Amino acid sequence: MSTRRLVLTRSAAAIGAASTGLFLPEIARAQSNKIRVGLMLPYTGTFAQLGVAIENGFRMAINEQGGKLGGREIEYFKVDDESNPAKGVENAQRLVQRDKVDVLVGTVHSGVQMGIHRVARESGVLNIIPNAGVHVATRAQCAPNVFRTSFTNSQPTLGLGKAMVERGHKKAVWITWGYAAGEEAMEGFEQSYTAAGGQIVKKLALPFPNVEFQALLTEIASIKPDAVACFFAGGGAAKFIRDYAAAGLNKTIPLYGSGFLTEGVLDAAGPAAEGIITAMHYSDSLDTATNRRFRLEYAKTFKSQPDVYAVQGYDSGLLLVQGANAVKGDLNNKQALYAAMQNAKIDSPRGKWTMSKSNNPIQDIYLRKVEGKENKVIGIAAKAVQDSGAGCKMG
Ligand code: PHB
Repeated sequence: MSTRRLVLTRSAAAIGAASTGLFLPEIARAQSNKIRVGLMLPYTGTFAQLGVAIENGFRMAINEQGGKLGGREIEYFKVDDESNPAKGVENAQRLVQRDKVDVLVGTVHSGVQMGIHRVARESGVLNIIPNAGVHVATRAQCAPNVFRTSFTNSQPTLGLGKAMVERGHKKAVWITWGYAAGEEAMEGFEQSYTAAGGQIVKKLALPFPNVEFQALLTEIASIKPDAVACFFAGGGAAKFIRDYAAAGLNKTIPLYGSGFLTEGVLDAAGPAAEGIITAMHYSDSLDTATNRRFRLEYAKTFKSQPDVYAVQGYDSGLLLVQGANAVKGDLNNKQALYAAMQNAKIDSPRGKWTMSKSNNPIQDIYLRKVEGKENKVIGIAAKAVQDSGAGCKMG
């Protein structure tokens, strides 16, 4: 190539760049005018309904703001994470690198959360966890850009042990899926149960998301404990409740659980769920103006009854709204955004709650009993429960 042609080519390229340059800022501005919200949730599998309820609740909070965040329009990007931990990193990266989301809302499953967590810590993207309770996300690996609006896995079960011992159940079998959520729910149960004088006589587990409970139910029948306590959720929880009753165990060995057991499954579980006592940071029957209004609006909009997942989705929206309003929609103003979210006071259908120093809710745990198609509050199991946040070095 001659020198002259090279010069010409160069200048042509320069002109090209200059002319696109005229348009680029405008395009960039038009794009960045919308806040990009990524929803990474399960829309298939045993937790599918949980994902839908979270998205409904989240959109409800945003729609109460005219569909905007800090005055800016929103564009949604969705990924079905299938509750598959093996694809957790890849799915989170899709949202962060390809879709360039400003905030990633997700997810439900603790194993998948660890994938999101890695991407959130490496990229610095804002992550709001609307369910998954994996301890480490707000303990040793806490991060200033990661906020949880739900619970740590041991928070609900910290409210369970005393209630069971008070009802005369001193020896219990624990049963769950063998992954972080089940194991950490057990930690809370063991702590509260042994402190109250109870003893776990056997710990049983099956792999997530298996629902072949028969062999384990036979084992429970032969052990004859005073009671059974468990962590199951979603479709698997409905099946566990039905199988437990079909085996006749509900007549002789009362079933207790982390409250997810009876959330969103009461239609599917039917009469088999009647009388089950659980501990949870929400109850359908909380008699507050905020809860009554929330339940009415949700039922009207989505033609279904809200559950704890819908509440957590809603609170994720409320938290983001408070943050975005504080920075007038400029989510790049991270210091002010995170300060506003860290200091947020959430007027939730579950009751008012605030963030702990490690960005996890400080909240009451209610004792509930299934009556008809409702989780009825029968007491407060534990007030203002705060996760230990052990090892969190955020200040
Ligand atoms: C979790 O994997 O952290 C998890 C899943 C479903 C629940 C609660 C916790 O209902």
